[in-house]
Amino acid sequence: MEAQTTYNYKVVRQFAIMTVVWGIVGMLVGVIIASQLIWPELNFEPWLTYGRLRPLHTNAVIFAFGGSGLFATSYYIVQRTCHTRLLSDGLAAFTFWGWQLVILLAAITLPLGYTTSKEYAELEWPIDILITVVWVVYAIVFFGTVMKRKTTHIYVANWFFGAFIITIALLHLVNNAELPVSFMGMKSYSAYAGVQDAMIQWWYGHNAVGFFLTTAFLGMMYYFVPKQAGRPVYSYRLSVVHFWALVFTYMWAGPHHLHYTALPDWTQSIGMIFSLILLAPSWGGMINGIMTLSGAWHKLRTDPILKFLVTSLSFYGMSTFEGPMMSIKTVNALSHYTDWTVGHVHSGALGWVAMVTIGSLYYLIPRLFGREQMYSVKLITTHFWIATIGVVLYIAALWISGVMQGLMWRAVNADGTLTYSFAEAVKVVYPFYTIRLIGGTLFLVGMLIMAYNVFKTVAGSKAVDDAAIPAPAGAHA
Ligand code: HEM
Ligand code: HEM
Repeated sequence: MEAQTTYNYKVVRQFAIMTVVWGIVGMLVGVIIASQLIWPELNFEPWLTYGRLRPLHTNAVIFAFGGSGLFATSYYIVQRTCHTRLLSDGLAAFTFWGWQLVILLAAITLPLGYTTSKEYAELEWPIDILITVVWVVYAIVFFGTVMKRKTTHIYVANWFFGAFIITIALLHLVNNAELPVSFMGMKSYSAYAGVQDAMIQWWYGHNAVGFFLTTAFLGMMYYFVPKQAGRPVYSYRLSVVHFWALVFTYMWAGPHHLHYTALPDWTQSIGMIFSLILLAPSWGGMINGIMTLSGAWHKLRTDPILKFLVTSLSFYGMSTFEGPMMSIKTVNALSHYTDWTVGHVHSGALGWVAMVTIGSLYYLIPRLFGREQMYSVKLITTHFWIATIGVVLYIAALWISGVMQGLMWRAVNADGTLTYSFAEAVKVVYPFYTIRLIGGTLFLVGMLIMAYNVFKTVAGSKAVDDAAIPAPAGAHA
């Protein structure tokens, strides 16, 4: 009987702990590849070369760290806001073990060199099938829980998670359409060819950013920012408008990754225009989050969790201003292929995605383990400052090196010859790669501090499995 009157926190706890673990692993690989760019001797043939570790980094941080964080928070939020237990404990447990298996297989196959060569979709076809099964079960658990809710309406965070789950399913299936040519060799060829393949890949790639790294994390934001601030969402109406505008607009922006390629020019222009429009819903979300603090600004002074959440929104605003600017063809002519792109990526990935996740986990973990708060609030503050300095160093260094690369590559002498050789453009970025390495290492150190804090919070605690579901339908819990 207990099953109907309590929430399922077990699966949330498992995913929450693995978020910290995979965060450390993924960022450690990030630090290693950042070092390899400075010291090529660190490439250990054949498994630990840059070419094999780079996709391991992106898969680990996006799908293992980000993915586990999204599973944890979506399962927690959907139960709390729908006043009901997850549809099925068994299916929820299946998604946990299934997702961990996907991560393990990625960690083995990528260093071994198995890859489809499609960025963010490198995993070969047998793993793609496993991902599909886990994702369908995730959808059943999530939407099944929404359907048996005891509340009358569906809280806005759940719309964002819902859109994320549906869209990722669509993206995964379409972009991974491939012809398997061997089972043990785990080799397949894309079902598409030439420029169509590129178009589908970047429709996928951009929406992976839009729905995995943005929409879903906005779901996280819409629950934890009001909770931690102790204030209702600034504007429910704005959340409706920005939700529909965001999910509609993201779909069309992919071609900005293919400027000046064989893709028809008008398609590139459409990508650029939709990217510019995307600024509005993105900032709508940021403003809605930040303005939720109205009347609670003073809490920012003392509350490091709120610091993480609000700073993440600021980075979200910054990267969604930078992105539309980079999508303008003339700007992209300078930024494309340079470190500027990588800096933009990490202002979104570290500043927004990682920081909103970290803030949310600091809120969540004590509640899952029957503690009043984290073991040390002081260490959260330390983590916050180390992480913030780390991101700023990372992105500032790459802005400089990126613009420098772009300008050096395009510089021509009066007689039409290139002013700089390629090697000269490589040489000048070394100091900035060192600064990026320092920034990234700081961010990783912050994660290690978090792991210690989480360990001390969890050690000797009693797992909470019996948080009671409120009896009458009413305000959000
Ligand atoms: C300690 C923190 C991190 C470090 C040191 C780091 C380092 C790196 C490095 C060196 C690259 C390759 C850049 C290049 O090819 O020139 C990279 C790529 C990438 N990283 Fe990270 N990273 C970190 C954290 C993260 C996180 C948390 C995320 C996502 C949530 C992330 C997402 C990515 C993505 C998507 C790329 C590919 C970018 C592109 O293709 O333009 N990284 N990272
Ligand atoms: C309004 C929002 C955004 C727009 C219009 C936008 C636009 C762009 C543009 C124009 C590029 C460079 C494409 C190229 O030259 O190859 C890019 C790259 C990228 N952006 Fe954004 N961006 C936005 C927000 C974000 C956010 C919030 C994140 C992360 C959380 C992010 C992650 C990435 C990644 C991972 C890449 C590199 C893709 C690759 O080449 O591997 N973007 N974005």
